[in-house]
Amino acid sequence: MGFFKESYEDGYQFNKSNFNTSTVAVLVIACNRPSISRCLNKLLKYRKSKEQFPIIVSQDCIHERTSQVIKSFGSEITHIHQPDQKEIKVPSKEKKFNGYFKIARHYKWALNQVFNTYNYGTAVIVEDDLDVAPDFFEYFKATLPILQKDRTLWCVSAWNDNGKFALIDRNDPKLLYRTDFFPGLGWMLTRELWIELHKKWPNSYWDDWMRHPDQRKGRSCIRPELSRSKTFGKIGVSNGLFYDKHLKFIYLNEVPVDFTKFNLTYLLKNEYDNNFVGHVYKAPQVNYNELKTKAIKHNDPVRITYYTKNNLKSLTKLFGLMDDFKSGVPRTAYKGIISFTYENRRVYLAPSNDWKGYDPTWQ
Ligand code: UD1
Ligand code: MN
Repeated sequence: MGFFKESYEDGYQFNKSNFNTSTVAVLVIACNRPSISRCLNKLLKYRKSKEQFPIIVSQDCIHERTSQVIKSFGSEITHIHQPDQKEIKVPSKEKKFNGYFKIARHYKWALNQVFNTYNYGTAVIVEDDLDVAPDFFEYFKATLPILQKDRTLWCVSAWNDNGKFALIDRNDPKLLYRTDFFPGLGWMLTRELWIELHKKWPNSYWDDWMRHPDQRKGRSCIRPELSRSKTFGKIGVSNGLFYDKHLKFIYLNEVPVDFTKFNLTYLLKNEYDNNFVGHVYKAPQVNYNELKTKAIKHNDPVRITYYTKNNLKSLTKLFGLMDDFKSGVPRTAYKGIISFTYENRRVYLAPSNDWKGYDPTWQ
């Protein structure tokens, strides 16, 4: 490998990655939870190749019990420690959000380690309170070539924000989508993306920052119909209310799919925009009452059109979908389309045909 460095204004120099393009580092973000053993046990249980998926556990915080647990995994993993434990100067009105500043600082350091010190070409980020599904590794292995090929994609995520039992088709575990909403929670990025993001990485709220158009730049992620990750971290930096109302209901896929055996090129933008978006707009248009009263005489997919923010808000509430927006993008949406199931039927909430793009004032 020839000598090659790229320097950035913040002093970072990136070495050219000398890893096989199919090597994917799994970066586990840890702090002070000894229950990280649950997360690591699942990762090790489902990982078939240590060479292909080296695991790096990056620990923030000084927490001896957690350090011991991580160390007990021995050479199955690499344990690194975020060195800067200084208190962060947080604006006084954000004091209670101190934790988000620490998380952002940790992510920046850990990702620099993965892509620059360890020099990997791709990483999957897993937080210490995530369970992963049996086919977690096959999912990322199979989608990596798609992520590398399609410049309009910037991540692959294991998470479906609307992945509750009643909202998914468990008969179709291999179904994948594109989404404009950055899901996080078990997600893959390439070093090219990190080289782009590291220079402007924020001091806090990194995930919402990612969702801002200045970062997203119109790019999408791949996400599954059935989640391949699930959080068990009820108590964390954000409050547990969200966990009890929503996160704990996410269904974690149990039937492994060997994604590497399937052709996933249908996820490339051109194909997807013709086929998936075309299919959505060909689905007959109905309204909520027709669905609710079982007035529809077939079992095929249907489409419900929304026109305004309030329109969409009330529909998401009626169906039990997530009802929030980030930078105007509803959770799981692709070109404004939200796909889910209602009483075992596929339903698409979709904007009208003349949709002009997301409106950041929708929040
Ligand atoms: C929520 C998000 C999480 C995101 C975070 C920051 C969900 C379910 N979780 O965190 O994906 O990264 O907001 O916007 O949406 N940690 C540190 N240093 C600390 C504290 C925590 O590194 O000082 C680590 C934890 O080990 C964990 C991660 O940061 O891996 C998230 O912390 P957690 O307490 O789980 O916060 P959430 O509320 O889930
Ligand atoms: Mn968490």
